[in-house]
Amino acid sequence: MTDPARPVPKACIIGHPVAHSRSPMVHGFWLKELGLAGDYTREDVRPENLARFIASLRERGYVGANVTVPHKEAVLGLAEVASETARAMGAANTLWFENGLLHADNTDVAGFLANLDERAPGWDRRGGTATVLGAGGAARAVVYGLLARGFSTIHLVNRSRERSLALEAAFGPAVTSCGWEGLDRALSETNLLVNTTSLGMAGQPPLVIDLAPLPDTAVVHDIVYIPLTTGLLSAARARGLATVDGLGMLLHQAVPGFAHWFGRMPSVTEDLRAILVRDIERAKV
Ligand code: ATR
Repeated sequence: MTDPARPVPKACIIGHPVAHSRSPMVHGFWLKELGLAGDYTREDVRPENLARFIASLRERGYVGANVTVPHKEAVLGLAEVASETARAMGAANTLWFENGLLHADNTDVAGFLANLDERAPGWDRRGGTATVLGAGGAARAVVYGLLARGFSTIHLVNRSRERSLALEAAFGPAVTSCGWEGLDRALSETNLLVNTTSLGMAGQPPLVIDLAPLPDTAVVHDIVYIPLTTGLLSAARARGLATVDGLGMLLHQAVPGFAHWFGRMPSVTEDLRAILVRDIERAKV
């Protein structure tokens, strides 16, 4: 029952643009499922207004927020306390108030790992070698997570050498970068292949690579989830490899924020996934 003396806790997703975000669908599902009074809305905030918006977050009635493109880096400097992961990523996606201070975390790393744990149990048992396509913010979170799970070699394959060299420098000798011409050699010793580029996403050029060099036991993961079955995942399935789509990363990264704001730990269930799958198939964006 709602206590009239206590305002309904309210959170939001801050981005620009933000109309496409499916986070309200995820948090709305959990609020209803758990029978909690709460609200989760979208806030389209232009970069030049971000600092003012964050400074007035509490005044606006928010107990916290998610943060998406293009604000993930800037918001880190606006929070009063940043988690170790957020500092390592140089970016945050989850904000909440604790003891009067605005805290920031980056839950993409935990979301990435939890998705693989759920969809490909034992995926990290062999450890060893991973190949990561791309060298943007998502690749940084993926590499950080893989190192935390004991991968000893990570091949970073990216178009712009400058960006992959920057990640190599940030993460140390376990990470080696190469251009696309080095892909076949990297794949031949890869236990886990992760696409973090936008290639293969609806409206983007396709990701066309030859998966033949991968060992038969390799797991292939695409963090892209529109479409749910990307060309990469289709090709991997055709080769008989285990595959994991990117939807679970979106769902799992949302869990810590919900727990901070609304006080209960939500679950990523097949029912929730089915709602998102239906929406993605309907909208195709
Ligand atoms: P995110 O924060 O989601 O990682 P990003 O920083 O824009 O997004 O990174 C996008 C990634 O997709 C980059 O690795 C980018 O390669 P570059 O660093 O060379 O730009 C990669 N990417 C995007 N379009 C690409 C294309 N047409 N060909 C090859 N790589 C592409």
